[in-house]
Amino acid sequence: MTEKQNKTKLSRQQFLGIIWLGALATLLGEVIAGLFVFIQPNLEGGFGGLVNAGKVEEFHPGSVSLVQSGRFYLVRYEDGGFIAYWQRCTHLGCSVPYEEDLAAFRCPCHGTVFNEHTGEVTSGPAPRPMDTFPIEIREGEVYVDTGSPQQRTKFSGDQVKYA
Ligand code: FES
Repeated sequence: MTEKQNKTKLSRQQFLGIIWLGALATLLGEVIAGLFVFIQPNLEGGFGGLVNAGKVEEFHPGSVSLVQSGRFYLVRYEDGGFIAYWQRCTHLGCSVPYEEDLAAFRCPCHGTVFNEHTGEVTSGPAPRPMDTFPIEIREGEVYVDTGSPQQRTKFSGDQVKYA
């Protein structure tokens, strides 16, 4: 092999090395960008941030509404007050469905039943009432801060938000 051929071969190896480095850098950049999006707190719009549940008048007094994007139930009392319950069971974290005929939330995993008005445990192994999220009412819209779950030992009137 002549010296000229060696230079050509070396230069081909360098070219392939540059291609590999470029591909690796692109892959690394995509992984870093993906991680950044994944760990960045969701400040508005979905679970983990401030969720706009809707207009006050969309929630009838005496209603229980699941807001899927925020993973919470918005309960509106007959007197117009609101409370937001995290859908997550306080026992081992299963999603708790609302059962209208039972007028309660019942966890499918180990059977805890939570009162629909207070979120307190009426039976089952859960150690505390359903967690709540702070509510803000601005310009006729209900906002729920799903980034700040509140643990409770019991229900009290100061957990209810009025327009
Ligand atoms: Fe709900 Fe166990 S996770 S009762």
